[in-house]
Amino acid sequence: MAGMKVHLSSFCMSLQSWIATISWVIVVWEKGKGEWPLRWLPVVTTGVHSVANCFVVPMATGMSLTLCFLTLRHKRPKAKYIIWPRIDQKSCFKSMVTAGFEPVVIENVLEGDELRTDLNAVEAKVQELGPDRILCIHSTTSCFAPRVPDRLEELAVICANYDIPHVVNNAYGLQSSKCMHLIQQGARVGRIDVFVQSLDKNFMVPVGGAIIAGFNDSFIQEISKMYPGRASASPSLDVLITLLSLGCNGYKKLLKERKEMFVYLSTELKKLAEAHNERLLQTPHNPISLAMTLRTLGGQHGKAVTQLGSMLFTRQVSGARVVPLGSVQTVSGYTFQGFMSHTDNYPCAYLNAAAAIGMKTQDVDLFIKRLEKCLNTVEKEQNKASVVSGVDNYNRAGDVDIEEMALKLDSVLGDKHQ
Ligand SMILES: Cc1ncc(COP(=O)(O)O)c(C=O)c1O
Repeated sequence: MAGMKVHLSSFCMSLQSWIATISWVIVVWEKGKGEWPLRWLPVVTTGVHSVANCFVVPMATGMSLTLCFLTLRHKRPKAKYIIWPRIDQKSCFKSMVTAGFEPVVIENVLEGDELRTDLNAVEAKVQELGPDRILCIHSTTSCFAPRVPDRLEELAVICANYDIPHVVNNAYGLQSSKCMHLIQQGARVGRIDVFVQSLDKNFMVPVGGAIIAGFNDSFIQEISKMYPGRASASPSLDVLITLLSLGCNGYKKLLKERKEMFVYLSTELKKLAEAHNERLLQTPHNPISLAMTLRTLGGQHGKAVTQLGSMLFTRQVSGARVVPLGSVQTVSGYTFQGFMSHTDNYPCAYLNAAAAIGMKTQDVDLFIKRLEKCLNTVEKEQNKASVVSGVDNYNRAGDVDIEEMALKLDSVLGDKHQ
C-alpha cells in the first residue's frame, strides 16, 4: 500500500511537471519551427516569443493574481498601493484587496465609443504616490467592450522608467493573438513581470486553474514556491487531457475558428442592432467582446434593459449581459458608479456579446435568434406600456403567450434578487 502511495504521488508529480512543460510550450512562440526538443507535444503558437517560465496553479484567475501580489510584497516592503486602470469585474478588484493592498483606481478615458487607459493619470499617480510605495501596475488585456485592452506597451514603459513591477491580467486573452501580441510587445519595449490567464476561459476545462507566466524564470519560480501546501491535480489533469485530445492542430484550429466567429458575430449583431434602431459600438481594439447600444430601452430607469438581461439569462443565453445606466456597486468597501460599464457615466445602456473559444456558427445563430425574440418582446411590452399609461403591463392577466409568461417569471425573479 505504501509503495502504491509513493508510486501514485510520483505519478502526480510527473503529471504536474508534464503539464507545466506543456503549458510552457503553449505560451512560448515556436522558436525556429520544428526545433523543439519536445516537438511531439501539442505545441500551440499564441504569440509570446520570449516567455521564460510558467506553471499551472490550481486556483482561478483572481486568486492567482493574489498569489503574484503576495510574492511581490517581499520585494517591495514599503509598497501599499496597486495602480489599476479600472475594469468592472469584481475578482480583479478583490484580488488586490485580499492581498492586503489598496487599489488606486484610474478611470478610463472615452475615445469614440471605446474606453481606454488614461496614461497621463497613471503617470501622475505614480509621481504623486512615489514609486516605492507602489507594489505594481495591474493592467488588463481581455475585457468586455466598450473597454478595450489596456495600452500595455505604454504602461510597460512607465513601469520600466519608474522601476515598478507590472502584473497583467490576461484572464481570457490567451485565445486572442492580439492580446498575446500586446504582452509580447510590452515585454519587448518595457516591463512586464507576470501575466495570468484562466484555464477554463482559454482551454474549455472546468473552473479552478490558471497559468502564471513571465519573462524572468526565477521570479516565476518564486511565485510558484509561495503556494502553501499541496494542491489538487485536477486542473492540470483536465488541461493535459484536453490538449492531448485536441492536439496542437486541434487547438490552433479552435483559435482560428474563434477569430472567424468574432467576425461573424459582429456582422450578425450589427444587422440585428440596425434592425432595432440601435448600433454596434465601434470598439476595434477589443478582439473578443462586442457591444450593441440599448438606447431605445434606456427609459424607465433601465427597467426594460434589466428585463432583457433576465430574459436572456432564463433562456440560457449565458454569454451575453446587459449594462444599464447608473448602477452603483460597492466592492470590498469601494463604491463604483456606473458599475459594469468600466466608467462612471457611459453615454448609453448596452448589451455585450463575446466570441469565445469553442463557439460555433450554430451558437451565434441561436444567440441572435433568441436575442431578437427577447428584444421584440421587450419592445412590444414597452410600446404597450407607453400607450396604456399608468397600467403595469407586466402584471396584466390573460392573453399571454409563452414569451410573455417567461417575461413575468423573469420579472418575479428579478424582484426577488434585488
Ligand atoms: C477580466 C477578468 N479578470 C478576472 C476574472 C476572474 O476570473 P476567475 O473567476 O478565473 O478568478 C474574470 C472573470 O470573468 C475576468 O473577466
